[in-house]
Amino acid sequence: MSKAQKLLNWVDARFPLTSLWESQWGKYVAPKNFNFWYFFGSLAMLVLVIQLVTGIFLTMNYKPDGTLNAAGVPVAFASVEYIMRDVAGGWIIRYMHSTGASMFFVVVYLHMFRGLIYGSYKQPRELVWVFGTLIFLCLMAEAFMGYLLPWGQMSFWGAQVIVNLFGSIPVIGPDLSVWIRGDYVVSDATLNRFFALHVIAVPLVLLALVVAHLMALHEVGSNNPDGVEIKQQPKDPETGLYLDGIYSHPYYSIKDILGVVVFLIVFSAIVFFMPEMGGYFLEHPNFDQADPLKTPPHIAPVWYFTPFYAILRAVPSFLGTQVWGVLAMGGAVVLIAFLPWLDRSPIKSIRYRGPKFKVALVLFIASFIGLGILGALPSTNARTIIAQIFSVIYFAFFLLMPFYTKNDAGSVPVPDRVTEATTARQVKFLALVAVTVIAAALFALNV
Ligand code: HEM
Repeated sequence: MSKAQKLLNWVDARFPLTSLWESQWGKYVAPKNFNFWYFFGSLAMLVLVIQLVTGIFLTMNYKPDGTLNAAGVPVAFASVEYIMRDVAGGWIIRYMHSTGASMFFVVVYLHMFRGLIYGSYKQPRELVWVFGTLIFLCLMAEAFMGYLLPWGQMSFWGAQVIVNLFGSIPVIGPDLSVWIRGDYVVSDATLNRFFALHVIAVPLVLLALVVAHLMALHEVGSNNPDGVEIKQQPKDPETGLYLDGIYSHPYYSIKDILGVVVFLIVFSAIVFFMPEMGGYFLEHPNFDQADPLKTPPHIAPVWYFTPFYAILRAVPSFLGTQVWGVLAMGGAVVLIAFLPWLDRSPIKSIRYRGPKFKVALVLFIASFIGLGILGALPSTNARTIIAQIFSVIYFAFFLLMPFYTKNDAGSVPVPDRVTEATTARQVKFLALVAVTVIAAALFALNV
């Protein structure tokens, strides 16, 4: 027995190292037909690690202090400039963290979209999905609070707008918004508490939720692009595995490494060549220090919040209160958690669903992209009307789901075994998504 094996045996006798590795990955049996859409879970974990590591290094030089220094610059803002210009390697750490924030949402949106097209939220994976939705909520809170820290103009005014929304809640609203800010306006007190929540409280919850998400998934087993439950298949007498099952290691270890390499190429290209991403990853007004006396002409959240922001703006105030918009925005996120119970179809994968779901999904994608574009633009009357139409489609997708998913089988029945992915089918699907996205974008941009 080698020395390494002896050491491992020693550890295993005292800590379940090998059994944890085997149950969670090494001997975790997954369907053999994972495709492109199955890259994003492991990539989300990668981005989480990038954010945690770069975040720790940023914290070493960042100062959560809204007071002005001798030069009249807020200390927090100046500390970010210091990181960018004077700290060795500070610029790359900061750009990795700011790019990581946007890429987290790119990856998580694609990860959620996969769940949607393959019905991965359905029985028995409801809890995987609910934990996922909670992760999404935490991620939004984490990004929102992180954005205040550089104490630029958008940091300050973005936080001002969003915290003020809580003020519209009847009875408790005004007190609630003061409680959140710790002051009557966004101030040093707000910055300090957002810093505490951003660097420790929310990341802890996020990590715990990711662990719960993966434990729940590994309890029930992964879904796949055909929506076939491999655990209902007989086992191969030779290998002892379900007929369509393979071990995650080495098969998906290799696949995920491919995803990581491609992702890191894209990520590095952004970090090195376009860290601001045309003002979408780092908004231009945020290069100006926060000035409580100067409201920027157009306050827009970062791109990943814009679909929900557009829903907020689309709802008119009614009975003298803005609370309806706030409720709609919150509802738009909360509804996602209820998908497992809104979808009544026994068919999981879009490959075997009928036309009603497919049409609903195309309209939903168009409305989500359209809202995302509209939320980034200043509002006009025409844009508000379009945003209202898109918002209605967004909610209809969820609320009418129990009806249009009943009796909606496709022409091809769900097979017993997983199938080969044909290139023609994938090209057709991607072309449809691309056309939908482009059509929604052109429509939203032209009004
Ligand atoms: C930090 C964020 C997240 C991380 C690190 C993460 C991680 C993972 C990983 C590693 C897997 C297994 C590999 C895969 O299927 O791609 C997975 C599966 C899954 N995740 Fe996530 N996830 C995150 C967020 C979310 C969110 C926001 C949702 C939905 C609201 C979600 C829903 C799911 C579902 C339904 C599955 C099972 C998919 C299937 O078996 O087809 N996840 N997640």
